[in-house]
Amino acid sequence: MKVGDRHFRTIWLNKDEHSVDIIDQRWLPHSFRIETLRSMREAAVAIKDMWVRGAPLIGVTAAYGIALQMRDDPSDAALETAWTTLHETRPTAINLRWALNEMRRELKPLPPSSRAGAAYAKAAAMADEDVELNRGIGRNGLEIIRQIAARKGQGEPVNILTHCNAGWLATVDYGTATAPVYLATEERIPVHVYVDETRPRNQGAFLTAWEMAGHGVPHTLIVDNAGGHLMQRGQIDMVIVGTDRTTANGDVCNKIGTYLKALAARDNDVPFYVALPSPTIDWTVHDGLKEIPIEERSADEVSFVQGRLADGTVAQVRISPDATPAANPAFDVTPARLVSGLITERGVCEASPRGLRAMFPEAVKAAE
Ligand code: MRU
Repeated sequence: MKVGDRHFRTIWLNKDEHSVDIIDQRWLPHSFRIETLRSMREAAVAIKDMWVRGAPLIGVTAAYGIALQMRDDPSDAALETAWTTLHETRPTAINLRWALNEMRRELKPLPPSSRAGAAYAKAAAMADEDVELNRGIGRNGLEIIRQIAARKGQGEPVNILTHCNAGWLATVDYGTATAPVYLATEERIPVHVYVDETRPRNQGAFLTAWEMAGHGVPHTLIVDNAGGHLMQRGQIDMVIVGTDRTTANGDVCNKIGTYLKALAARDNDVPFYVALPSPTIDWTVHDGLKEIPIEERSADEVSFVQGRLADGTVAQVRISPDATPAANPAFDVTPARLVSGLITERGVCEASPRGLRAMFPEAVKAAE
């Protein structure tokens, strides 16, 4: 998408043709910085410390991490070490395991001397595929926005609530939850996005708001607790969120706080949609609450907030007493029964085993 007048993806091959450039998301919206990853270990740090984040982008970064390793050492042992090191970075987003398995499946049968070239080609193909999947999600989600806009009529904006950042910064380009919003904006369908700030890391305030502002999408930042109130007052027409792992029965794991939005949406008859590319479906898991590992991140993310000081420097400030402990579960699970529909690259389906099976019959067979 656009940054100023230039088109950027979130990850691309450096002009030296082996290092990998990323937008370093730790500094947005205050400063736009590009970092270069030169080794598998640097790619692992970038994922773990959230220089890059968002399920699809984590997957593609891991794929490039394998490519960097294959350039340094293409042996079987190095491939396994890279798989494990990258897999340990973040536990919840299934796209990470998916991407690593795809890379291993591609590279393992090859002689070590051909692995580096094949790894870079596969990682690039996965990046391009992510963009295509998101375009598909955009087209299918746009149809829902069109219908709501037609129902409202008279140029009334469709008010969309979103949580965290499932935008272009969370993917290679376009985003999942934001893809329909960008397409609606291109079609001049009036939309307005309520952006949850998404404590503790504020991906909504920092990243989604930056994306919306950069693309001229009317938006309003709200605190995480405001969503239910706005729904009660009829100010939200639909919710669209992303997901880090959706189970074979349609349970949706996403950024902490998503579940509360789904509860409020159900209580107020607001449609609650989840946008996802098929690599985010974990066909091996049938009960999200029991089976999905929930990442527990540092308590410091809760006890401190980051912001820009008057002199322009970005700083962390403590907001709680020094002695107060904090807990930081990073994701929660929204049961399938609270989800109005899953917006995938193939179409919109019911969040249920039947809905997912009908949409992706070949994936179900492969998982059996
Ligand atoms: O911890 P993060 O910032 O990686 O969490 C991101 C999310 O929860 C997104 O909603 C999810 O990855 C979907 S991104 C298209």
